[in-house]
Amino acid sequence: MAPLTTRAGSLLRACPRQRIPALCSAVTSAQRRTKADIVQRTGGEYERTPQFDSPFRDEDSTPTTKIPSFAKYMSKKPESSNKVFQYFMVGSMGLLTAAGAKATVQDFLVNMSASADVLAQAKVEIDLKAIPEGKNVIIKWRGKPVFIRHRTEDEIKEAEDTKWESLRDPQPDSDRVKKPEWLIMLGVCTHLGCVPIGESGDFGGWFCPCHGSHYDISGRARKGPAPLNLEVPAYSFPEDETVVIG
Ligand code: FES
Repeated sequence: MAPLTTRAGSLLRACPRQRIPALCSAVTSAQRRTKADIVQRTGGEYERTPQFDSPFRDEDSTPTTKIPSFAKYMSKKPESSNKVFQYFMVGSMGLLTAAGAKATVQDFLVNMSASADVLAQAKVEIDLKAIPEGKNVIIKWRGKPVFIRHRTEDEIKEAEDTKWESLRDPQPDSDRVKKPEWLIMLGVCTHLGCVPIGESGDFGGWFCPCHGSHYDISGRARKGPAPLNLEVPAYSFPEDETVVIG
């Protein structure tokens, strides 16, 4: 049984080897035939010839594709008048599209911009004539209290004479005011944000009762845990007796 199996195996292995040359010669002859069918040499030129005739092509049969006539839809007017109408339609549609796009962008920008109440809070105008000398006024600006102090001559002198270089947040009084008689600053303690009390404390300015911070008459931190002076907001004097904060 074993010799029979071995012989069968060797026969199987030899079979492809013997068939390959025969297969190669068959392919080569087929290629030659195909080339001869496709290409014919004619006076040095090569010309393609059809490889086969389609069995579905019937020269005598009527065409199955019928193209409808659009003649009744064609305009009877001259070509120039048709062009005028086309230009008019294209121009009109372009204008309408541009107007629609402009309206859309405009609506979007209006929606994104600040509302009237927000704009109203952005700036606050105060009439300074109503604040007598030596008095404080507290106003609300952007949700925060703002102190406005009409300082007296003595308070101004005291603020200017203070040795500011040795303070924890050194700042001369001239850097904190635009007009010496008007001290304007945020009423928010720089320690943890309480609202200090005016005309109190050890330095005649403001005192924060939350943790005991003292500010002088220029709003500078002098004692207690407050690390910085009271913040001065942006403001301007459009007129002598008017201040605009913001
Ligand atoms: S919040 Fe003013 S001292 Fe702490």
